[in-house]
Amino acid sequence: MAFDAYHAPGGWAGDTREDGALLRSPRRGPTPGRSFALAAYLARWSTCAHHDLAASDSQSLSLAALLRLAGPEDMKRWRNADLGYADPRGASWLRAAVAERYVGLKHHDVLVSAGAQEAVACVLRALLGPGDHAVVVVPIYQPSELVVTSLCAADGVALNSDRHWALDLDHLASVIRPNTRLVLVNFPNSPTGATMDRTTLAGLIDLCRRHGLWLVNDEVYRQTDANPEGAIPPVVDVYERGISINGLSKGFGLPGLRVGWVACRDRAVLERVLAIKSLLSSCLAGPSEVLAHIALRAEPRITGRARATGRGNHRRLRALLDRHPERFEQDEPRNLAFAFPRFRGREGAAAFARAVASEVGLLVLPSVLWRSSLAPVPADRLRLGLGRRGSGAALEILEDHLQRRSHR
Ligand SMILES: Cc1ncc(COP(=O)(O)O)c(C=O)c1O
Repeated sequence: MAFDAYHAPGGWAGDTREDGALLRSPRRGPTPGRSFALAAYLARWSTCAHHDLAASDSQSLSLAALLRLAGPEDMKRWRNADLGYADPRGASWLRAAVAERYVGLKHHDVLVSAGAQEAVACVLRALLGPGDHAVVVVPIYQPSELVVTSLCAADGVALNSDRHWALDLDHLASVIRPNTRLVLVNFPNSPTGATMDRTTLAGLIDLCRRHGLWLVNDEVYRQTDANPEGAIPPVVDVYERGISINGLSKGFGLPGLRVGWVACRDRAVLERVLAIKSLLSSCLAGPSEVLAHIALRAEPRITGRARATGRGNHRRLRALLDRHPERFEQDEPRNLAFAFPRFRGREGAAAFARAVASEVGLLVLPSVLWRSSLAPVPADRLRLGLGRRGSGAALEILEDHLQRRSHR
C-alpha cells in the first residue's frame, strides 16, 4: 500500500525510502516547498482510526471546567471580554503572567503568538536570511526544520539513540561555520523524549557564546518532563542570546486556545519577531487571552492532573511492552506525554502503524514521520501518545491486536 504522506503534493517522495533512510546527501541550501509528513499522515488515517495513541497533548479541559478554575478578576475579564482587535503583542497582564515563569523577565520581554508553532516560525524568520547558516538538532518538529531549510543553509546534528539520545557537542561544534547564526533545539524533545543534562546545556551555551549564536529552544514539552527535578532551566534564563518558546498546547492540554509565546531578553529581536508575526495574524483572540491567563494561574492543578494521567498510562504501557518483548523493546519513560519504543517486528514500524490503523482503527505514529533532510532519524520506532484519559483503552486495543497477531 502506498504511504500517502510520501506522495502528498509537494511531498518528500524521492528524499527518503519507505523505511525512512535518506536517499540523498543532507541538503545545504534553502529548500522551499516541502510538505509536513505528520499532518499528511494524520489527514490520511484519522478519519478511519477511532482510537488515539498519536496525540502528544495532554487531556484537554472543557470551557466550563477551565472557567471553574478562574479567580474573581479573571471571571470579570471573561464576562467583559472585548471582541475587538487586541494588542498585537498579547495583553500586558497575560504577558506579565508568562514573564513570571522566567527569571527577571517583565511583560515586555514576552510576545504572545497563535500557538507555539507561530512563535517558532516567526523567531526563525526574524533571525535567519539567505546568507546565513543554522544548526538544527534532529529529530525535531518537521515544520520547524522546514522553516529553517526554506530560509538558509543548514546542518543537522542527530541525537544519539545508542546513548539515550544524547547531544554530541563535538559534532555540533564541527558543523559551525563563520556564517552560522543560530542553533535550533527542542528539549524536552519530541518524539524521543530526550532531555539535556546541565553539563551539556552549559557546554552548548559556551559554544553558542563563543560563536555569537542564538540558541532557540522549543520548550513545549517542559510541563510533561518525566523528571522535573532534573530539568534544565529555560534557555532564556541562562543565556543572554537564549530564546525560549512555549505555550499551552501540550502539558496544559489546551491546544484549542492557540496560545504560545516567545521569551527573549533582546527587545530589538522581539520587535523583529512582532513585525514578522504581523504578516500572519494581527493579534490573539481576546477570549483566548483570558482563558490562557486562567490556565496559567491554575497551572499546578491543570498540569498536575495531566502528569498523573501520563504516569498511569506509562505504567500500563510498560506492562504491555513487558508482555511483548518479541515486538517491542522496553522504553524508559522520559516524557509523560508520550513514549518512543523500538519496534522489533519483521514488518517494520511504518507497516505496523498502517496495519493497526486499517485493521483495528488505532492511530500510532511511526518514527519515519520525523524524517529529516538534515540528519538520519531511526525508522524503527513508534511514538505513542500517553497524555489522554483514553490512552489506557487504546493500549488495550493495541494489546488485543498484538495477541491476535501472535496466534496467526
Ligand atoms: C515540538 C513541537 N513544537 C510545537 C508544536 C506546535 O505547538 P502549537 O500547537 O502550540 O502551535 C508541536 C505540536 O505537536 C510540537 O510537537
